[in-house]
Amino acid sequence: MQNDLEKVLVTREDIEKKTAELAAQIEKDYKGKHLLLVGVLKGGFVFLADLMRKINIQAEVDFIMVSSYGHSTKSSGVVKIIKDIDIDLAGRDILLVEDLIDTGLTLKHLVELLKTRNPSSIKICAILDKPSRRLVNIDIDYDGIEIPDEYVVGYGLDYQNKYRHLPDVCTLKPEIYKKKH
Ligand code: IMP
Ligand code: MG
Repeated sequence: MQNDLEKVLVTREDIEKKTAELAAQIEKDYKGKHLLLVGVLKGGFVFLADLMRKINIQAEVDFIMVSSYGHSTKSSGVVKIIKDIDIDLAGRDILLVEDLIDTGLTLKHLVELLKTRNPSSIKICAILDKPSRRLVNIDIDYDGIEIPDEYVVGYGLDYQNKYRHLPDVCTLKPEIYKKKH
């Protein structure tokens, strides 16, 4: 496994520090509100678990899973919900929790979709951001660590459903992508 890795791009310490900063801001902004944290599966679950334990206010948690169009640059791709949020969103203050904003297409579509359910507010938090890959304009209310245009794994992020468990965010050796699995 360690042999598959090229380098560590973001360390677990950097992630921890940024998560604490974001959590402090979220705690301040949502005091007195009825916060609903929504983790975007699969990748977002690791960050959500760390983030929620640093937010010291009443919050509920739910998850949503959307279809992935991989790294295709088709902007027409509409997000398909594979696992929906179980509760009524009317009047709720939703914070979508993502691992990484890349093209921005997933969250753009997801926000549009969830808005139709009349939440009080809907905001976005992501631990990683690849702004150079953006295809649509998207406001990230709680923006994490900026990374260059490189494919990364670890801290919830996968390549072919592997490497999600790595505590650091890493790049893979080029030969891993060439291998048949
Ligand atoms: P989008 O292009 O912003 O719609 O990104 C959608 C999702 O693709 C992200 O939330 C990640 O889960 C996944 N993704 C994007 N870039 C990477 C990467 O470098 N490694 C692993 N997953 C990625
Ligand atoms: Mg994701």
